[in-house]
Amino acid sequence: MLDLAGKNALVTGIANNRSIAWGIAQQLHKAGANLGVTYLSDDKGKMEKKVADLVAPLNPSLFLPCNVQNEAEINSTFATIADKWGSIDILIHCLAFANKEDLSGDFSQTSRFGFQTALEVSTYSLARLAGAAKPLMKSGGSILTLSYLGSVRAIPNYNVMGVAKAGLEASVRYLAAEMGPENIRVNAISAGPIRTLASSAVGGILDMIHHVEKIAPLRRTVTQLEVGNAAVFLCSDLGSGITGQVLYVDAGYEIMGM
Ligand SMILES: NC(=O)c1ccc[n+]([C@@H]2O[C@H](COP(=O)([O-])OP(=O)(O)OC[C@H]3O[C@@H](n4cnc5c(N)ncnc54)[C@H](O)[C@@H]3O)[C@@H](O)[C@H]2O)c1
Repeated sequence: MLDLAGKNALVTGIANNRSIAWGIAQQLHKAGANLGVTYLSDDKGKMEKKVADLVAPLNPSLFLPCNVQNEAEINSTFATIADKWGSIDILIHCLAFANKEDLSGDFSQTSRFGFQTALEVSTYSLARLAGAAKPLMKSGGSILTLSYLGSVRAIPNYNVMGVAKAGLEASVRYLAAEMGPENIRVNAISAGPIRTLASSAVGGILDMIHHVEKIAPLRRTVTQLEVGNAAVFLCSDLGSGITGQVLYVDAGYEIMGM
């Protein structure tokens, strides 16, 4: 059933009302899930306030800072979940980062530090968060991450993030193989291009969106809520037979050759 009542779902990656994670959080809430939300804190507490105001109507029972580059914050997030919830059913990993200078120009010029940062935040963090969630997924669970076509095709300017997403999709398969015996499913949604804070750092993102609107079978790109709907499906019992997969939610763009 698509009913998520009684399920504890942690959503990472909400920055503002354009975030894909915001679309997912709204649809999880609609399906009845009890939400926990993490945010990336900054020195002035601006992000905390912004995200808190945005998610207030969804009544999250947990609201925690979790910078995935900060071990203490990750440990504290999952310690709080263990303490307040006791168990977790759904983990939404919906975050990524690369330095802006590494999202245009020649891929061969990516700096060592830029490469490490992109893969640490965007790729390693999935395994790290999944590993922390695993012992708390006591009656099975569902882990979902967000990918993009640049993992399997060379997309102009996507560069190091394409490498990060290739690693992310491989991580989905390894995590699914590891956690399947515990009835924990791990999947990715590969979303079509959407205007968000993160995507605005990719050189030529508007051209990419216009290209998809011309070429995709549905002659448009997708919305955050459409990604949210697919996320709810994958995390609910309706997706109980699906693990290790990358589901394209991209108005069909991925199938096109010319
Ligand atoms: N927008 C698109 O076109 C598109 C398409 C396919 C996949 N995606 C993926 O969707 C996911 C969400 O991105 P979005 O487009 O909604 O943009 P977004 O900017 O709204 O979300 C990115 C999130 O990553 C978080 N983040 C960055 N560094 C972090 C860190 N160190 N610790 C914790 N959180 C951190 C940010 O705070 C932000 O909430 C990303 O994985 C992105 O690659 C986006």
